[in-house]
Amino acid sequence: DQKLNVGLCGLGTVGTGVVEILTNHQEDIVHQVGCSIDVKRILVSNLDKPRGASVDPSLLTDQVDELVNDPEIDIIVEVMGGIEDTYHVLERAVQNGKHVVTANKDMMAVHGGKLMELAREKHCDIRYEASVAGGIPIIGSLTNGLASDRINKMMGIVNGTTNYILTKMVDEKRTFDDVLKEAQDLGFAEADPTSDVEGLDAARKISLLSTLAFKMQTELEDVEVSGIRGISSEDLAYAEQLGYTMKLLGIASREHGKVEMSVQPTLVPNAHPLASIKDEYNAVYVYGEAVGETMFYGPGAGKLPTATAVVSDLMDVVKNVRLGVTGESSVYPQYDKQLKAKDE
Ligand code: NDP
Ligand code: HSE
Repeated sequence: DQKLNVGLCGLGTVGTGVVEILTNHQEDIVHQVGCSIDVKRILVSNLDKPRGASVDPSLLTDQVDELVNDPEIDIIVEVMGGIEDTYHVLERAVQNGKHVVTANKDMMAVHGGKLMELAREKHCDIRYEASVAGGIPIIGSLTNGLASDRINKMMGIVNGTTNYILTKMVDEKRTFDDVLKEAQDLGFAEADPTSDVEGLDAARKISLLSTLAFKMQTELEDVEVSGIRGISSEDLAYAEQLGYTMKLLGIASREHGKVEMSVQPTLVPNAHPLASIKDEYNAVYVYGEAVGETMFYGPGAGKLPTATAVVSDLMDVVKNVRLGVTGESSVYPQYDKQLKAKDE
């Protein structure tokens, strides 16, 4: 009986969800992938933190080497966050022939290209569906379902925390700081919520999606970003009176080989479907030449929605390992860089 072993980096909001889904859906998962998936080691930063009864304490470690250097670990699931150190952990894992599933858009937006290049060399898979829009399978839709189309525009809400804040400030007349605190308690916000409220998290996601949709390597620095920190309850009430709802929108378009990307608070007419996207939910419109307008909607943050995407990616990698086709992944292909204005 084949069994694949996972090294889980992180046991916070998403990591606990991953353990929960692997445990609660075990039978269905085994049935689909044809072998069992065991979590062999779990990396955390604080070994003294109390963990739920569902986690075997003997699996916990604070030593990354126990995961990346363990020859019995086949796949690293990275749900701990961070950019530079985490990239180096994953780089070592891939050097050692391990496949990677990650929910980390921060690291992917900066180092995704390099990591994928190394993975191709080492015949490893890298998957990151959970890194954009939590439980919505938007990456798979762009790279599989809509792959034959030419996509020229995308627009939507890709950050759950800011949508939660804007929703509650309007519907429950609460203050920005009060709702931000709640979004943190619910596990939606990043470890440093500045990246949520200032639009950087959404910018990372828009840059990742643009690379995949437009089939050109885009750069995070080319996203024009403005967040919601300066938005007051009065601004929102005024917008409401005029028949609009304020949303933090990510917008990306491609014309003549040039990609334009932005993240900004936008007044959306109340009749537009994006105006009714509430709480931590996300929604992304994708406009394809052949398919026309499509909209992807669902929970954009949170334990189980995000973990669903992580575990589904993990299952995909397991299937590839069993078929012997790892490293062929085209999920983050090598694209030419987009034209900058000066190159035109
Ligand atoms: P949490 O802060 O809840 O959990 C982080 C976990 O990683 C904790 O278990 C922590 O250990 C561990 N950890 C952090 N840094 C280190 C380190 N240097 N060494 C060892 N262990 C470490 O984060 P989330 O679960 O919310 O997010 C994880 C990742 O998923 C992030 O990249 C985030 O952007 C992404 N993501 C999160 C979503 C969400 O809704 N929360 C949605 C989509 C993506 P300890 O428990 O000891 O503190
Ligand atoms: N902090 C992110 C959000 C988590 O609120 O959307 C999901 O990527």
